[in-house]
Amino acid sequence: MLNQDYKKDFPILQQTMQGKPLVYLDNGATTQKPDSVIAAVRDYYTHANANPHRGAYELSVQATDIYENARVRTQKFINAQHSHEIIFTKNATESLNLIAYSYGLSTLQPGDEVVISIAEHHSNLVPWQRVCQQKGATLKYIYLEKDGNLSQQDINEKITAKTKIVAVTQVSNILGLINPVKEIVKKAHAAGAVVVVDGSQSVPHIKVDVQELDADFFVFSGHKMLSPMGIGVLYGKEALLNAMPPFLMGGDMIDYVEEQHTEYAPLPAKFEAGTQNVGGAAGLVAAIDYLENFGMEKVADIEAELVQYALEKLADMPYIELYGCNSRLDNKTGIIAFNVRDVHPHDVATILDAQGVAVRAGHHCAQPLLAYLGQNATCRASFYFYNTKEDVDRWLAALSKVRGVLGYGA
Ligand code: ALA
Repeated sequence: MLNQDYKKDFPILQQTMQGKPLVYLDNGATTQKPDSVIAAVRDYYTHANANPHRGAYELSVQATDIYENARVRTQKFINAQHSHEIIFTKNATESLNLIAYSYGLSTLQPGDEVVISIAEHHSNLVPWQRVCQQKGATLKYIYLEKDGNLSQQDINEKITAKTKIVAVTQVSNILGLINPVKEIVKKAHAAGAVVVVDGSQSVPHIKVDVQELDADFFVFSGHKMLSPMGIGVLYGKEALLNAMPPFLMGGDMIDYVEEQHTEYAPLPAKFEAGTQNVGGAAGLVAAIDYLENFGMEKVADIEAELVQYALEKLADMPYIELYGCNSRLDNKTGIIAFNVRDVHPHDVATILDAQGVAVRAGHHCAQPLLAYLGQNATCRASFYFYNTKEDVDRWLAALSKVRGVLGYGA
């Protein structure tokens, strides 16, 4: 499977970087866009751009149709029960803030508990910190086993009758490990809590079915799954969304407004104030089409092959430290976090960049996880289905030179 040229659909991957063919290994941050997605956005702005839901003229009707079709395509992609359970946002971060500020602020009481994992991205952590502080609730953490998976003991013990919200990522953006969300949902529901799942690093890489997971809320970003930046998704169960107050107020989220009173629009408009990103929605549809035609199982299989191939080679590089790589491989997506002994991750990334290899370095917006792992920063290579064994070879060849460039021995 790795021998096929899936890069041909991605114009940016045909470029050279620093005079070398680009090896793009920062897909956890954002993925590249295929021709079909770029064409869909261009097409929208060339032929159908108008403000949706507002105009009585044909162009606005076309924009509305494109936007609402995107909602239905997204509903089917994650198997939500109703299309009005899909709310479009700017990104997963905005979706999580919406849940925290709307659901969290309106339901939490002093003494309540919110349980998250130590492996959360700041987007699924800082909003809960803030809302807990405002409401006098307690934020509790599920920590990790030695292999980086969530502690089973913590899952069993920290979700209690006091827990009102459990917010977990399905896949950590540093460890790349798939969390047992279905089991967590069962435990949380038995305790009377609702579950928020951050699918930013899962939806692009594995098949997700929100009804099968029984998640109450599920969020992800389009740009990590081939679509343009600026379009994100919030899925929420109808009854919960109906009971929640709106997050942002303004145009298009109302039924009628009087001087001192507003009746809000029904779902999904209640949560979509202001002019929406129709071009992004058109791109998201093209991205979903691309992924469905390609096959999500194939995406997962290719990433598994790449990870296995890379880890076998990394085992012969004793100066590399790995994070989240001691677990079962069938439980891991295409993310490898690493450090080069004695070398700051930013230096590593800069030296790799000089070879045309793009990886992320830093705290990856998950500082509590890094503190828990005893690190300030790491590098991270994150694959997508268009990466190849040659990309891995180029990355590892560049990596093998890092200590030498800085004057260290092997
Ligand atoms: N959340 C993105 C990442 O993990 C930006 O890199």
